[in-house]
Amino acid sequence: MYDFKIAAADKATLWRELNQAAGGLTDGEPDAVANMANVAALLWETLPDLNWAGFYRNVGGELVLGPFQGRAACIRIPFGKGVCGAAAATLEVQCIEDVHAFPGHIACDAASASELVVPVLHEGELLGVIDLDSPLKARFDAADVEGCLELARLLAPRLLAR
Ligand code: SME
Repeated sequence: MYDFKIAAADKATLWRELNQAAGGLTDGEPDAVANMANVAALLWETLPDLNWAGFYRNVGGELVLGPFQGRAACIRIPFGKGVCGAAAATLEVQCIEDVHAFPGHIACDAASASELVVPVLHEGELLGVIDLDSPLKARFDAADVEGCLELARLLAPRLLAR
């Protein structure tokens, strides 16, 4: 078992340490499932106030559930549907303060109140998305967007072996 014990005072430091740990965990490992599984566990253990943390993969133009922590979730999400589908269709980060006000939000878990979805891109190709859900409204801010974008950048080349 890896024991990272990340406990930083501010979000930027928390994400920096999380990303360092994620880099270390996935270094030299080409297997995408193994890497997503460990990073989902790391996100879940490190970030406070989450009720879901994980991945959806781009499988032939549809998002399919990947490794995650939290409650069992919707398996397939078409591009353009819900928050994850919006991120996949636009290739843009979706940082949603109140998911209940988001048109087409897919309520996998009624407890979710806010959500951050970051596309994972490799050479312009969408590999999938990182999805974080919180039971708190407006849980995610610019520091989370920046930190999660950095995570997506470092992970992308390590999610190619499928
Ligand atoms: N709420 C998401 C669906 C995925 S779950 O939150 C794990 C959405 O609207 O895309």
